[in-house]
Amino acid sequence: MSPRPQAGGFELATRMAHLTPSAVREILKVADQPDVLSFAGGLPAPELFPVEAIARAYAETLAQEGRQALQYSVTEGHGPLREWIAGRLGARGLPTQTDQLLVTSGAQQGVDLAARLLLDRGDRVIVENPTYLAGLQAFQSYEVVPVPVPSDEQGLCIAGLDEVLYAQRPALIYLVADFQNPTGASLSAERRPRLLELARKHGVPVLEDDPYGEIRFSGQAAPLLAALDPDQVIQLGTFSKTLAPGIRLGWIRASQEIIARLTILKQAADLHTSTLSQRAVARLLETFDYDGHLATVRDAYGSRCAAMDRALRRAMPPGAHWTLPEGGLFIWVRLPPGITDDAVFRAAIERRVAVVPGHPFFVGQDQHTHIRLSFSNRSETLIESGMATLGEAVSELAARPAAWSNPAHPEPGLDEPRVEGRP
Ligand SMILES: Cc1ncc(COP(=O)(O)O)c(C=O)c1O
Repeated sequence: MSPRPQAGGFELATRMAHLTPSAVREILKVADQPDVLSFAGGLPAPELFPVEAIARAYAETLAQEGRQALQYSVTEGHGPLREWIAGRLGARGLPTQTDQLLVTSGAQQGVDLAARLLLDRGDRVIVENPTYLAGLQAFQSYEVVPVPVPSDEQGLCIAGLDEVLYAQRPALIYLVADFQNPTGASLSAERRPRLLELARKHGVPVLEDDPYGEIRFSGQAAPLLAALDPDQVIQLGTFSKTLAPGIRLGWIRASQEIIARLTILKQAADLHTSTLSQRAVARLLETFDYDGHLATVRDAYGSRCAAMDRALRRAMPPGAHWTLPEGGLFIWVRLPPGITDDAVFRAAIERRVAVVPGHPFFVGQDQHTHIRLSFSNRSETLIESGMATLGEAVSELAARPAAWSNPAHPEPGLDEPRVEGRP
């Protein structure tokens, strides 16, 4: 047995040996410096938060039901809020009873509780490669083995999945089917039923993490996985990207039996999600034009995404590649061959522009081939100037391939980096 890790003079639980601080969190600290133009954090645009409406809802809640709102409450969540969520999921093609919902402190708590419910130490979890980093961290805290499955512009690759499920006997399939973090890709409508068929055949539950599904600004929505097979899928949702992440409100939608078990785990974790936040948001949703607000958010993100695409096309040297997402917060850029994500991060930060290197999102073999750009939290003007600077940094690296070469770059044969200006 491996020795227990130590910290602060204490022996820690063995599981802490597998947990390191997220590389991306460390990068975000650098990116947060005031003179840095950051495209690193996956932050919703704060200027779009409905601050006045939220302030009114909290004030009214405190004035009219303050004593209940400041009291402990039931673990499952505030009734009217659960009713609203159930109605919303129904309108998205997923009929839901209120007792099929557990209100959580964001979708992140949903990932954690689902992992705690389903995973024993050493279990295997199928994840898209690359995948959501904090999801991976949640799984790793349960000492499980993530099994990476490749993904492309149409999401998780289904070809070969049957064999992987046979060989690995996983306890869970985790995926972000719409506007994935970090790739921005969505699982195609054709692949969805096939994935569920395989999950059912092998008896593997699917955890559908859906923070971005309602942030679609172009194209046609495919059905929620949970809508296609409600018994095989545990669905996670959140108000973080539609209202504001600071209120920390999300939900888990599953069968009554699963929700009853998750409720026990939630009780042990934090008793319940903030009573005040739940009541205030339930009150807000009674009168707030949620769809009107979502339309504003979608329009703004769609314009920013298009601005980033235009600016990248102008600024990036040949060999860089990205697929335009139809929603969400991110563009995932494959760098020209021979240029690493770390080199781009360093060259960009020297010019006071921050991006996220892609390699922490990959499981297994280190891949230094991509960077993640978030377009949600910057104006079109700043996106244009930031992408111009980033393009300069990448072009300069492309002109000096030997100094930055990455022998592990797995995708040779794309366009040669531009040679003009090579010293
Ligand atoms: C895929 C994914 N899941 C979950 C979360 C966490 O969301 P929440 O704020 O609801 O906890 C994020 C946040 O960026 C995310 O990208």
